[in-house]
Formats: sequence, C-alpha cells, structure tokens
Amino acid sequence: MYLEMKDVTKRIRGTTVVDKVAFTMEKGRVYGLWGKNGSGKTMILRLLAGLILPSEGEIRIDGKCLGKDMDFPESLGLLIENPSFISYETGFQNLAYLAHIRKRVSDQQIRETLEAVGLDPDDRRTFRKYSLGMKQRLGIAAAIMEKPELLLLDEPFNALDTKGVAQVKALLKAMKAEGTLIVLACHDREEMEELADEVFLIEEGRITGHESVDKKG
Ligand SMILES: Nc1ncnc2c1ncn2[C@@H]1O[C@H](COP(=O)(O)OP(=O)(O)OP(=O)(O)O)[C@@H](O)[C@H]1O
Ligand SMILES: [Mg+2]
Repeated sequence: MYLEMKDVTKRIRGTTVVDKVAFTMEKGRVYGLWGKNGSGKTMILRLLAGLILPSEGEIRIDGKCLGKDMDFPESLGLLIENPSFISYETGFQNLAYLAHIRKRVSDQQIRETLEAVGLDPDDRRTFRKYSLGMKQRLGIAAAIMEKPELLLLDEPFNALDTKGVAQVKALLKAMKAEGTLIVLACHDREEMEELADEVFLIEEGRITGHESVDKKG
C-alpha cells in the first residue's frame, strides 16, 4: 500500500479548505495530521477516503487514481467524527450488519474486535443507551474489524478514558506491525506522539510542517 496526494486543493463554495497538499505515505507506518480546529484535518481524511473529490490535483493509491480508477480505496477502515449506528440494535448486531456487506468477518472475529476495544460482545444494551466513550469504541471497532490495509481515524481518542486510550494505542501498534497504513487526525500532539512515525502540521488547509518522530526502543 502506497499513497500519494499530489498538490491536492479542495474548494467548497469558493472557499479553499485544502490548499495544494502533497505527501506520500507507505504501509506499516503511522502518520499524524496535527492542527487546530478548522485547519483541514477532517477534509484531508475525507479526500483520502474518497468521500469528496479534489478540485485540483490527484490522489493515488498503489498507483491508481481515486475518483477515476476507483471510487473508494479498496481496503479501507474509516472513523470520521461521530460514528453513526442503528440506535435500536446492540453493538454486536451493528457490527454484524456491517460485516454482512463484505462477508469477510465471522461472528467470532466480531466478538474479538469488540473485546479488543473494551466492549462486551454480550452486552444487551442498544446503541442508543451507549455512553459517548462506548460509541467511540464501537466506531473504532467498525473501522478495524476487516483488518483494512488503510486505516483513517479522525480524533480516535475523543471521549475515551485512560484505559480506552491505552487499549486503542495498543491495537493500532499491532495493526501497524502487521503492515497497516494508519492516518490519525488529532488536535492534541501528545496523544499522537507515541504512535505517529511522522507528523504533518496543518494550518489553514496547508501543510506547514513535517517531522519524523523518533521511535526509540
Ligand atoms: N460542509 C462544509 N462546507 C464548507 N466548508 C466546510 C464544510 N465543512 C468544513 N468546512 C470548512 O473547512 C475547513 C476545514 O475543516 P475541517 O473539518 O477539515 O477542520 P479540522 O481540522 O478537522 O477541525 P477540527 O479539529 O475542529 O475537527 C474549515 O474552515 C471549515 O469551516
Ligand atoms: Mg476534524
């Protein structure tokens, strides 16, 4: 998996929200998008997910152009803003519905994914009765369930308690070791530091900084 953004600009009703963004990313690495509220992190993730198309420039995944050669990245896990699920079904049922679309994941794997994010697969509560942190955990579970090659997570640590943050960090480290390309958007630098191999600073839709994070030990 190799990902390239080539001078991507996105304008929405005359406003430039992403401005000539260019980078390359490769498998088995974690990339952080770090920037203030409104800087364009979510827009960049939407572009990478194929949810919106660039106004200018192009996005290539393994050489194939998003929006031309394919509509969406072929193996994608995605968490953007508030995850929405069926309110009157349990966490397990919700994941089972999603799993049914591609039929790549067994009931046993759904149970394991729920446990990995700290949710009880036998919890009878429906999604509407979930706390904010439980909703976030289910959103992460849905994103990682199919073991995607490309994982895009927008503010993955939102609403998570200390234990939840640690669980998710451990999960992401394991996925990275298996070769997943992970992109995290985060406004908190500290939370990202431990995971990210490279951090892009985003300001007003532009990349204004790029640094490698030393991973010792
Ligand atoms: N639907 C929309 N139509 C027009 N402009 C939008 C839309 N959604 C977001 N924007 C604008 O795009 C810019 C980037 O927004 P974006 O959501 O990517 O920021 P962000 O870095 O993710 O911020 P946050 O940290 O608050 O999540 C902002 O100026 C915002 O006002
Ligand atoms: Mg955002």
